[in-house]
Amino acid sequence: ILPKFYFEAYAKKHLPKIAWDYFAAGADDCSTRDENILAYKRIRFRPRMLRDVSMMDIRTKLLGTEISFPVGIAPTGFHQLAWPDGEKSTARGTLLTYSTCTLEEIAAAAPGGIRWFQLYIHCNRAVSQQLVQQAEALGFQGLVLTADLPYTGKRRDDIRNGFRLPPHMKLKNLEGAFEGVDCSEYGLPPNSLDPSVTWNDIYWLRSLTHLPIIIKGILTKEDAELAVRHGVQGIIVSNHGGRQLDGGPATIDALVEVVEAVQGKIEVYLDGGIRKGSDVLKALALGAKCVFIGRPALWGLAYKQGEEGLQDVLRILQDEFRLSMALSLLVQLLLLILILHFSLSAPTCTCDI
Ligand SMILES: Cc1cc2nc3c(=O)[nH]c(=O)nc-3n(C[C@H](O)[C@H](O)[C@H](O)COP(=O)(O)O)c2cc1C
Repeated sequence: ILPKFYFEAYAKKHLPKIAWDYFAAGADDCSTRDENILAYKRIRFRPRMLRDVSMMDIRTKLLGTEISFPVGIAPTGFHQLAWPDGEKSTARGTLLTYSTCTLEEIAAAAPGGIRWFQLYIHCNRAVSQQLVQQAEALGFQGLVLTADLPYTGKRRDDIRNGFRLPPHMKLKNLEGAFEGVDCSEYGLPPNSLDPSVTWNDIYWLRSLTHLPIIIKGILTKEDAELAVRHGVQGIIVSNHGGRQLDGGPATIDALVEVVEAVQGKIEVYLDGGIRKGSDVLKALALGAKCVFIGRPALWGLAYKQGEEGLQDVLRILQDEFRLSMALSLLVQLLLLILILHFSLSAPTCTCDI
């Protein structure tokens, strides 16, 4: 079995520098990006002993639909920078994104998978409306509204590199919407996303679709309570992989207050810094129903044959997760209790999963 960091090293070595830098980028000093990973190292398990772990059940449910293992693929743009098949490969892995393949191509590549559509709200609301309705018609099962990008964070390497999509790659879902316009800002015209979006727009989205709405980018109990009050079905605790506000909390540190605030009324997921199976277990023990991986999925795509490399990443993560469960003597995700203990200054914390 290859160590997971091999995929990162492989991607760094083989991708064009501009693509590697785009995937790796964090905002400003990258302190939040790096903290996402470091924060896991400060959390310690409090394992129990002498329980039968010869059989373990690692299934869970996402909004009622069973998944074999509580890890999905976070939405990350421009998969074709990693592998020509782009999002078609990733869709077979699990979740979905804003993409260099059309929604039809992605839906056809993964007819059986759980697919959620990730949305940014455009100033031209007709564009967003059409995407939402198209996603629902194509059988996507959830709508993920990314809330943390009223403007794009300052990613120094992308600015230095003058990052632009190569001419043969397009934001295919938006083809036609921005004909003849300068699309220099990550494939979009400058200022095309709507920075005036507020909680009231959840009602607008609700009027467009019957799909469950999941808000991505929540980091505080106040916003978690607002999400519940506005009737969304799920929250993804996320800081966009540290690519937006630098100086915000690591997502694993923000998770506890969000979980406490929602009081089990809606599902809470997490992304950011998940690099090994024990990270998944820590997030679940602190109340996440499922986690998503961003960059590791892209490294997987860059490796081998796209989808095959991604499956390798997921398989290794799954094996590590099982092992962590076994060694902490946790046999059933849905039923048992794991007690986590924060080292350093963080409070001791008990979590049901
Ligand atoms: C290259 C890249 C592109 C991304 N594009 C999007 C996007 O289009 N929409 C979105 O909601 N999040 C996007 N994200 C954020 C991811 O969904 C996710 O929050 C983050 O990657 C998780 O952190 P991780 O990379 O440490 O796993 C992107 C992240 C990366 C690394």
